[in-house]
Amino acid sequence: MHVVRTVREVRQIARALPRPLGLVPTMGALHAGHMRLVDVARSTSASVAVSIFVNPLQFGPAEDFARYPRSFPADVAQLEAAGVALVFAPDVNEMYPAGFATSVDPGPIGDVFEGAIRPGHFNGVATVCTKLFSTFEPDAAFFGEKDAQQVAVLRRVVADLSLPVELRVVPTVRESDGLALSSRNAYLSPDERAAAPGLYRALREVADAVNAGSRDRTVLDAARRHLAAPLREAYLDIVDPATFTPLATLAPPCIVIGSVYAGTTRLIDNIPISTAAERAA
Ligand code: PAJ
Repeated sequence: MHVVRTVREVRQIARALPRPLGLVPTMGALHAGHMRLVDVARSTSASVAVSIFVNPLQFGPAEDFARYPRSFPADVAQLEAAGVALVFAPDVNEMYPAGFATSVDPGPIGDVFEGAIRPGHFNGVATVCTKLFSTFEPDAAFFGEKDAQQVAVLRRVVADLSLPVELRVVPTVRESDGLALSSRNAYLSPDERAAAPGLYRALREVADAVNAGSRDRTVLDAARRHLAAPLREAYLDIVDPATFTPLATLAPPCIVIGSVYAGTTRLIDNIPISTAAERAA
């Protein structure tokens, strides 16, 4: 496994790897959710590359960039064991040298929900992913459904900029009580951790109601009882999967999205609801 720190080395090595090449972009602190992406990439690609970069452009000034968990040696060991061919772990200067000024703006989808709570976040995600795509030139890039708005933003960017990469989306990996795996779960106190699956319960209740034929937004209000203290709702809604516009009438295809504060930590999760035709396909 090659472990390199410069764009130049990635380009040289990636161009020589057997194709198709699958890329899994990450910020490290790898858990079973990230490793699922690697496994799916392995099953459909001749070579897999992983980037590990805590991207300062996607963190707000008051966010957890400095204390974001980092576990580089353990990450590298897991990736090597999983059969990854190439790991790119640049420092900030390699990605954003002095004078760096260009950014990728995904438009209105970057300004709602996660984008409203984290102004500039999706410009940071869109910019770093565009750089990673141009550095690795992968045939496919793998992203978690857990970050559904990130996926919708990147679909927009790839379509609008005609980027020659196929986006592949991998279902969310969860703990046995429903909590979606996340590097930020490490910040939760025991009480917050015990309450955290309430977010998934709320989403599940809404998704089950829509799947059973409910078309009325009042199902959202009923589910809010799962988001009680010590949790505090940031948002709970049902949106169009491509634009993240809230739906007045709850009809598939749609995504039930939710976010809660648990102390100073904010958790996000979602459940996509496909149409009967999509499920049959
Ligand atoms: P990060 O939070 O490290 O996540 C890397 C990838 O793992 C993302 O595609 C994310 O959706 C996926 N992932 C995280 N938890 C998951 C889970 N429980 N189940 C399935 N997949 C999961 O997302 C980012 O990094 C960054 O924004 C990045 C795309 C790397 C750009 O900086």
